[in-house]
Amino acid sequence: MQRDWDQRARENARYFVDTSRTDWTDQTFFASGEHAVAEEVLTDTINIYQGMDPARMRVLEIGCGAGRLTRALSKIFGEIHAVDVSGEMIARARAALQDRPNVTFYQNNGCDLAVVPPLVFDFAYSSHVFQHIPSREVIDTYVREVHRLLRPGALFKFQVQGVPSEDSSPDDTWHGVSFTQEQATEMAQGCGFEHRYSFGAGHQYFTLWFFKPPA
Ligand SMILES: C[S@@+](CC[C@H](N)C(=O)[O-])C[C@H]1O[C@@H](n2cnc3c(N)ncnc32)[C@H](O)[C@@H]1O
Repeated sequence: MQRDWDQRARENARYFVDTSRTDWTDQTFFASGEHAVAEEVLTDTINIYQGMDPARMRVLEIGCGAGRLTRALSKIFGEIHAVDVSGEMIARARAALQDRPNVTFYQNNGCDLAVVPPLVFDFAYSSHVFQHIPSREVIDTYVREVHRLLRPGALFKFQVQGVPSEDSSPDDTWHGVSFTQEQATEMAQGCGFEHRYSFGAGHQYFTLWFFKPPA
């Protein structure tokens, strides 16, 4: 996964982050992140903020890529800790977000969150990432890892591939494994989460709301 994503980053990082265009400028790239975060976060503050002041919230982002969503998240939340398997993506994100001192980037091993210090997080988010992961076990491990780092009651909101397919080949880091509604619920239960809502079952953007049960 690291080799493939480093290669994509060197070729055209922003295109592989969002393939809707090849000629992203700083302005259009980060505007697309603002738009996505407005739709995914600002319309869902009851579930995400849970009454907290977002400026005091610590957020984990998995698969931050070149920082498209990270920049928008950093304008809302107090602290962002952003992880990606690709050092090349992280390098581009770091360079582009030098003006955002509340963001910390980590390159991880593509499987777990051991690289993140043992902090307590108030919200975790991932979009356009798990749809590329070719292993159910790796996604399951990430969900367990997020459960370890979230405070009780907090939400992990993330997107998986919902278009039914044969399980992808372990070498295919573009077409990840897909989930049905039942498989998503099974994963939540196996990892200690409550699967409270979902949107987009059967579609590419299948979004899941996993809540860590209150203590
Ligand atoms: C399509 S990009 C999306 C980036 C960002 N989430 C966005 O929407 O702007 C997918 C990102 O996920 C990262 N990624 C892929 N597999 C990963 C894994 N197993 N662990 C962590 N990051 C991964 C890639 O390096 C890439 O930066």
